[in-house]
Amino acid sequence: MNSLIVVSNRVPAPKQSGSQGGLAVGVMNALQKADGLWVGWNGEIDESDDVAPSHYEFDSVRFATFPLKQHDYETYYTGFSNEVLWPLFHYRPDKVEYDRQNLAGYLRVNELFADKLLPLIEDDSRIWVHDYQLIALGHFLREKDVNLPLGYFLHIPFPPWDVLRIIPEYEQLLRYLSAYDLIGLQTDIDLKNFLDCMQQGLGATLHDDNVIELNGHRFKAGAYPISIDVDEALRMAKEGEDSVTGQRLKKSLSGRPLVIGVDRLDYSKGVYKRFQAYERMLENAENLRGKVTFMQISPPSRTDVHEYAELRTTLERVAGHVNGRFAEYDWIPLRYLNRGYARESVMGFLRMSRVGFLTPLRDGMNLVAKEFVAAQNPEDPGVLIVSHLAGASRELDGALVCNPYDVDGVADMLERALTMSLEERKDRWQRMYDILRRNDIHNWSRTFMETLVSVPYSRS
Ligand code: G6P
Repeated sequence: MNSLIVVSNRVPAPKQSGSQGGLAVGVMNALQKADGLWVGWNGEIDESDDVAPSHYEFDSVRFATFPLKQHDYETYYTGFSNEVLWPLFHYRPDKVEYDRQNLAGYLRVNELFADKLLPLIEDDSRIWVHDYQLIALGHFLREKDVNLPLGYFLHIPFPPWDVLRIIPEYEQLLRYLSAYDLIGLQTDIDLKNFLDCMQQGLGATLHDDNVIELNGHRFKAGAYPISIDVDEALRMAKEGEDSVTGQRLKKSLSGRPLVIGVDRLDYSKGVYKRFQAYERMLENAENLRGKVTFMQISPPSRTDVHEYAELRTTLERVAGHVNGRFAEYDWIPLRYLNRGYARESVMGFLRMSRVGFLTPLRDGMNLVAKEFVAAQNPEDPGVLIVSHLAGASRELDGALVCNPYDVDGVADMLERALTMSLEERKDRWQRMYDILRRNDIHNWSRTFMETLVSVPYSRS
C-alpha cells in the first residue's frame, strides 16, 4: 500500500483540549484509518539548529514533529500566516498587517518543512499538504526533485481575485499553488474564486473538470467539503452527556434550554455580533428572560496577534454588559467561558443543547456545526443556527441559515429556534443527519486521495 504523509503547521498535541480548530480534528479523524504519518510543528520554540523530528504515536496515528525558532514563529506563523493570509482569505483586508520581511520568513519556513520532510518520503508516498501556512511547500518539494503526487487542501475560504491581489506577491502565491497536482477547496464558491484567480492572475487556461493548464503543465482543483467522523462524534457526545461534567452542567441549568456557541477566540467567528443578537432577543422576547441560558466557549487563540488580544477585551466587556443588564439573583443569561474543554465534554454539551448558535462572519466549513448535528438525540434534537457565510450552510439544509451581520434577523431566528415544535426540530435534524452520513470524514479523505492518484502528473 502507498504510504500517506500528511503535512500541516499545527498537529494535535496529545494533551491539548479544545482550541485546535477544525483542521486538527478533521485530519486526525481521516488519518486514523489510513495508517499514515503526520508531519508538522510541535508548537514549541527552540533556538538549536537542525533539530531532528521527534517520532511518536498516539490515537493510532504516527507523528514526526519539530520545533521552530522564535524569529521563524514571529515571521512565518504570527506575521505572514496570521496577520496577512488569515484575514485576507477571510475577506478582511482591514485587518491585514503586511510586511515584506514576514513573507521572507514564511518562505524560509516552508522550505524548512520541505527539508524535514525529504528523509521521510518513500518511493510510493502520497503527500497531502494542509492549509494556508504551507502554500509554498509544494514548490520547494518540486525544487528538491520530489516527483510524487502532491495534494493540497485549503481549510479556510479562498478569496475573490480583487481581494487576493491586495498583497503584492499574490502572483507568486498562485504560482506556488500550481506546484501541487490537486488543490482541494471547501466549497464551490472557493473553487470558483480559485479558478478565477488562476485565470485572471496568471492567465491560466481552464479545461473540463476543473483542470488548469499553466505553462504547459496541468493540475486540477475541486471542492471537497470536509466533514467529521459521525459515529465517533455521537459516541463521545453520549459519553460526555453521561459524564460528571455533563451532569454538572445539566444540574446547573435547572431545566432551562441551553444555547451553545463553540469557537476559537477569533474575529472571523462573529462572536461579538452573536452576543449583540442574544441581547437583542432578550430585549424583544420578554417571555424568554430568565428562561434560557447561552453558553459561549471560546478558548484563546493566536494570543501574540494584536487583533486577537483586542477581541478578547471586547468580548469580556460585551458579556459583562449583557449580564449586567439582564441577570437576576437566580439567573445568569450568558456564560462566557474563555478556555477550552476536553473534546468529549464539548460533544456532551452540544448534545444537551437546544440550539447550536454558530454565526461566523466567514468560515471555511465550521466543523462544530456538523458536530452539533451528529451529537443530537434523535428523539429530542436541537436546532442549528448557522451563518450563510460558513461552508457548512451549503450542505446542512435543515439548519436555520442566518446573515450574521443582521443582528435583528439573528435575534428573531434565535427566538424561533427556541420556540420550534418538536416535530419541526426532528424533521430538520433528520435532513441534516442524512447529509452527514453521506459525506463523512472518511468519504472526504477517500474522494480526495482517489482523485489525487488519478490526476496524470508529468514531473519526471
Ligand atoms: C483553523 C485553521 C488551522 C489552524 C486552526 C487553529 O482551523 O484552518 O490551520 O491550525 O485554525 O489555529 P492555530 O493558529 O492555533 O493553529
